[in-house]
Amino acid sequence: MAKIKTVFICQECGNDSPRWMGQCASCGAWNSIVEETPLSVAHARGALSKIQIMNGGKPIRLDEIGSELEIRIPTGVPEIDRVLGGGIVQGSVVLVAGDPGIGKSTLMTELALYLKNRSILYIAGEESPSQIKMRVKRIGDTGDHLALLAETNVESIIHTVLDDPPEILIVDSIQTLFSSDVQGAPGSVAQVRESAAALIQLSKSSNIAVFLVGHVTKDGAIAGPRVLEHMVDTVLYLEGDRHHAFRILRAVKNRFGSTNEIGVFEMTETGLSAVENPGRVFLSDRTDESPGAVVVCSVEGTRPILAEIQALVAPTSYATPQRTATGYDARRLQMLLAVLEKREGMRLSGNDVFVNVAGGLRLSEPAIDLGIVAAITSSFRDLPVERSTVLIGEVGLSGEIRAVSHLEQRLKESANLGFTCALVPSSGLGDKRPVNGIDVQALETIHDLIETIF
Ligand code: TYD
Ligand code: MG
Repeated sequence: MAKIKTVFICQECGNDSPRWMGQCASCGAWNSIVEETPLSVAHARGALSKIQIMNGGKPIRLDEIGSELEIRIPTGVPEIDRVLGGGIVQGSVVLVAGDPGIGKSTLMTELALYLKNRSILYIAGEESPSQIKMRVKRIGDTGDHLALLAETNVESIIHTVLDDPPEILIVDSIQTLFSSDVQGAPGSVAQVRESAAALIQLSKSSNIAVFLVGHVTKDGAIAGPRVLEHMVDTVLYLEGDRHHAFRILRAVKNRFGSTNEIGVFEMTETGLSAVENPGRVFLSDRTDESPGAVVVCSVEGTRPILAEIQALVAPTSYATPQRTATGYDARRLQMLLAVLEKREGMRLSGNDVFVNVAGGLRLSEPAIDLGIVAAITSSFRDLPVERSTVLIGEVGLSGEIRAVSHLEQRLKESANLGFTCALVPSSGLGDKRPVNGIDVQALETIHDLIETIF
């Protein structure tokens, strides 16, 4: 018998190599390479060969493709529809990723419950059907239209689906599935990739919308295979802090829509409820001022969200001071600290610096730089910033404050939420009309900022 050829696959990034190595040549991870049987074997036989290939495998001209290819199923929940780019696209594959326990199964159950008049099959790989029924009850529904299948073998799932194709297939989770054609335990790169490939092919050939739930590992990659991200049409991350009620659904890849949209949800006793006006949910109700706390306005997708930034600068007891950022990019924090030190002569090297975006929110937009700088300075000098002030602006390496997009929209939302003063970049302000109810102060450098607020 011919020797079965094996490949060595990195469990972190999915890169394959012909021999074992201590460090992955692609992602640099150590000891992540595991020997597996090649994937192509499974493609050639088993369930996959039973799926007919679209159009008999012949090339197809663009003008022969009907526009009906992109049919969308609106979920009726604006928060979900917006993130998906206007509803679920038939025949598309969506990966819903997130930390364990963040609410992925809850979100998928609710999605299924919203779509009352659609046929839905829910593959329960992690929980028993009775557990899912309990969740449906908790959400306050009967879920009579929902069909459950407790099965983890991909071939069996495909057989069941082909017998009676649903419009929407929910797989919870992809890490529990296994294909009998591939070696390795469920959850290994080979199994996850193979199972996903089979379901993607099923989705495309039978025009079924497929949702794959995927757990994220500690370092943020979708368990093992980041490979899934390029195989699917849409990647959604459900994020948030488990100790806070708010959850954010964010599209990081979307072949059918914009990737900068977010949906805001609140985890309640009866499931996830959509927060349609998230403007102020991330602001605390505190009315007194405390050093280190400021409010910024970040545009997430198309909507401005006001959020509170907290900074703590405290003398360090270590040789190397700590710099910790929660909900914000730690490298950007390092950069802003260097700018403060170099341009303003602030002696931060003997201090630990902690920055936190309140409410479990994660902000990546540069427009909140100004707020971070103000929060750090405020804590360093132990002087509070007025509660009614909102800060908007990007900070450059020479300490200049740079223009941001959607300035007018940010100012309007801040005024709506009762802020009376806004510190904004002077560049980009141009001849824009003033916004009602908010006093706009234009700044050129962080030096101006420090002089204005303290
Ligand atoms: P779950 O959807 O099971 O998380 P995941 O599938 O991402 O692992 O949700 C887990 C948490 O959500 C769990 O700790 C309980 C909580 N929860 C509520 O607070 N309210 C609810 O109505 C439901 C269904 C869950
Ligand atoms: Mg789950």
